[in-house]
Amino acid sequence: MTMKTGLKKAPKIRIGVLYGGRSGEHDVSLCSAASVFSALDRNKYTVTAIGLDRDGRWYVQENPEIISDKDFGRKMALKKKGTWLVNHFEQKNKLHLYDIKNKNKEVIVDVVIPVLHGTFGEDGALQGLLELAMVPYVGADVIGSAVGMDKDIAKRLLKEKGIPVVPSVTVNKQHWRENANAKNIMKDALAKLGLPLFVKPVCTGSSVGVKKVKKKESLAAAMNFAFQFDNRVMIEKAIDCREIECAVLGNEKPAGSVLGEIIPQHEFYSYEAKYIDPNGAALKIPAQINKSLSDKIRKIAVEGYMALGCTSMARVDFFLDKKTGKFYLNEINTLPGFTSISMYPKLWEATGLKYGDLLDKLIELALDRHEKKLEIKTEGI
Ligand SMILES: Nc1ncnc2c1ncn2[C@@H]1O[C@H](COP(=O)(O)OP(=O)(O)O)[C@@H](O)[C@H]1O
Ligand SMILES: [Mg+2]
Repeated sequence: MTMKTGLKKAPKIRIGVLYGGRSGEHDVSLCSAASVFSALDRNKYTVTAIGLDRDGRWYVQENPEIISDKDFGRKMALKKKGTWLVNHFEQKNKLHLYDIKNKNKEVIVDVVIPVLHGTFGEDGALQGLLELAMVPYVGADVIGSAVGMDKDIAKRLLKEKGIPVVPSVTVNKQHWRENANAKNIMKDALAKLGLPLFVKPVCTGSSVGVKKVKKKESLAAAMNFAFQFDNRVMIEKAIDCREIECAVLGNEKPAGSVLGEIIPQHEFYSYEAKYIDPNGAALKIPAQINKSLSDKIRKIAVEGYMALGCTSMARVDFFLDKKTGKFYLNEINTLPGFTSISMYPKLWEATGLKYGDLLDKLIELALDRHEKKLEIKTEGI
């Protein structure tokens, strides 16, 4: 006798991995995407690699390939074949992509994983598009992404919660360009913050545009340099610090990982130390910090994450003053580096969640957040 089990194999979730994009972190994204693309469990998911070129055009990769780059290591190739149209109005909760020259090549995606660091990928712009499409996606939503990217607004929200942040002043380009103001701005900043200082664009990542200023004569040049990358620049007191990071994961009830430490071999954790020099920085997991302090930092990491309206995931970075032992929340990265050796997945691995399982969890969180958003009434009273 045969028995009908009634068990039907669940259809695989169709994942779209987005990578590349219009930011200074384009190459970094190709590396993160190579790890994400290869680790997704093909028993659960069908995976489409979708490369965004430096002009923002989308290309479905028909034969996705991971290549080796002499500077960046393993990375996703980005082949610009076809003329792909992103159609986000075709069907609710799905993203459709067509090659306009060959409509049969339609691709449908149930969940997007935007592995796009920096401008247009991490700052809420792409998240806005995905909200319009009503498609579930991994990572913070519009508000968390936008606020996480803006070091000035983020700081104000953190301060409001009583979370310690590094003293700073933020300067507008227009204000700076009026020469008398420039002199006064520098005078005031030096009086308030002393030397050395850090000067950084408000909305970049990967240390792009960041300079350490040790002499007051170098401040104007550092400001002008940073203004190339943004219309707002932050001048911050330099902290002689250890750099401590915590990985946070979750929607309504986020959890923090064990802490890690970045030990830069350069004067600070610059772009070169991050990506160019293979020995630019050492990662220490877990960070050698006593339990009560690390519990406190982990708790503040989660509070900071919630203060900025983050969901899904973020890496929360701290400065720990070597002399005073005081810590400051430096910044929250909503799309942190995601190669298999990057801090964010490594911290979860050390906390007991393997790389592949972390991806499963992120997809689950994306679907859960999406479902809850669909419950929200958008018309009528
Ligand atoms: N106030 C500061 N004191 C000490 N080091 C700093 C300060 N601000 C930035 N840095 C150094 O510059 C790096 C990059 O600055 P950060 O604010 O994290 O910008 P990004 O978003 O580009 O990573 C930090 O990891 C740290 O090494
Ligand atoms: Mg940083």
